[in-house]
Amino acid sequence: MKNFIFENSTKVIFGEGCVKEYLLSMVQKFSDGSTVMIAYGGGSVKKNGIYDEVKNILTDAGMKTVDFSGIMANPTYAKVLEGAKIARENNVDLILAVGGGSVMDCCKASALAAKYEGDIWTDFWASPGSVDFEPLPLGIIVTAAGTGSECNGGAVITNEELKIKTGRDYPECNAKFVLMDPTYTYSVPKRQMVSGSFDILSHIMETYFSLPDDDNVSDDISEALMRSVIRNLRKAVKDPKDYTARSNLMWAATMGENRIIKLGKQMDFECHQMEHQLGAYIDCNHGEGLAVLHPVYYRHIYKNGLYKFCRFAAEVWGISSEGKTQEHLAAEGIEALADFIKEIGLPTTLRQIGVNEETDLKAIADSCNCVPGSYKKMTHEEILEIFKECY
Ligand code: NZQ
Ligand code: ZN
Repeated sequence: MKNFIFENSTKVIFGEGCVKEYLLSMVQKFSDGSTVMIAYGGGSVKKNGIYDEVKNILTDAGMKTVDFSGIMANPTYAKVLEGAKIARENNVDLILAVGGGSVMDCCKASALAAKYEGDIWTDFWASPGSVDFEPLPLGIIVTAAGTGSECNGGAVITNEELKIKTGRDYPECNAKFVLMDPTYTYSVPKRQMVSGSFDILSHIMETYFSLPDDDNVSDDISEALMRSVIRNLRKAVKDPKDYTARSNLMWAATMGENRIIKLGKQMDFECHQMEHQLGAYIDCNHGEGLAVLHPVYYRHIYKNGLYKFCRFAAEVWGISSEGKTQEHLAAEGIEALADFIKEIGLPTTLRQIGVNEETDLKAIADSCNCVPGSYKKMTHEEILEIFKECY
């Protein structure tokens, strides 16, 4: 295990009814609570009643609220600045992000920008910076499970002008509190539920498939989490209102990205680098992009990480090793993953997520970061090969 320091400052309140029971006290605990900015996406929270519930709790207690609406999937830097401007102009005391990963990420960056005079893209996203001031306090109400953004300081932002989608994780940007009611995710359309769940699986795999491969508790937890995501996603596809399945998916999402399974691990995240740049060029759905890339990427690297890919086949998919070479067993694990992707209805080609003959795959490949954590360090040429195989 590598050396590590662990910190996670977000207070988590989980379970049915938690917003009604705890929202007010949380807002009062972490701000003077006189003006709250309610931030949300394209309007799902207005249709499913979550917005009204939240707003009434705050206004009934005499608080002033101001809206920051229309946060798009793959939030842009321009949208981040819009949020910061609304927060500043209205003397907002706390930002309340009500949504999925896009709303959470945008709000983390807006909370930082609201308290910073300079350009946050240049100073914190273009390359890692250091946050030596307090961003505006942030609270989160999760409405869609997937990114795990609710319990880390990560925010993935798209700079449309530069065609770069990139994430940074600053502990100072962790939300002060998060409220997680699994019933809030019942209304997430199947397509998003499945893609968000694949994102959970991807975060765990990107951590699991990296050195060190010694006996470490992080890998054991990761295997249990992967089995849980697979089992509970199958249940939630059959019955979207299966409370147990939705609860497990919601908490697995948090566990994937609250830094716990990353402790002592180097981490890969090359697939995320590739997907983020696809997103910057074609604005695709994050989990869907990952689903297309993962099996193909793994076929490229598994021979350099045979031990772990064999363990994945046996421990996550229950495949027997009897009479098989290591290579054969490892390849069967990757095929089990590819079959699962088809079974739950995720796309399997880049064409299905918006790439066409006019898309400049070479430019996208050249713009990807090649991270050091993989079993095999990618080159831009190999990333282009992967894209072509996925096409
Ligand atoms: O915009 P609205 O109308 O709210 O609809 C959203 C959106 O269309 C809908 N939705 C959310 N909750 C709903 C609901 N629809 C009905 N009922 C509900 N209860 O779901 C759609 C997708 O939402 P979005 O927030 O975009 O999805 P997701 O949670 O997958 O977030 C994706 C973003 O997070 C980034 C991704 O790159 C992408 O930009 N990531 C952030 C990470 C982090 N901060 O740690 C890590 C991830 O790897 C990821 O990169
Ligand atoms: Zn992700």
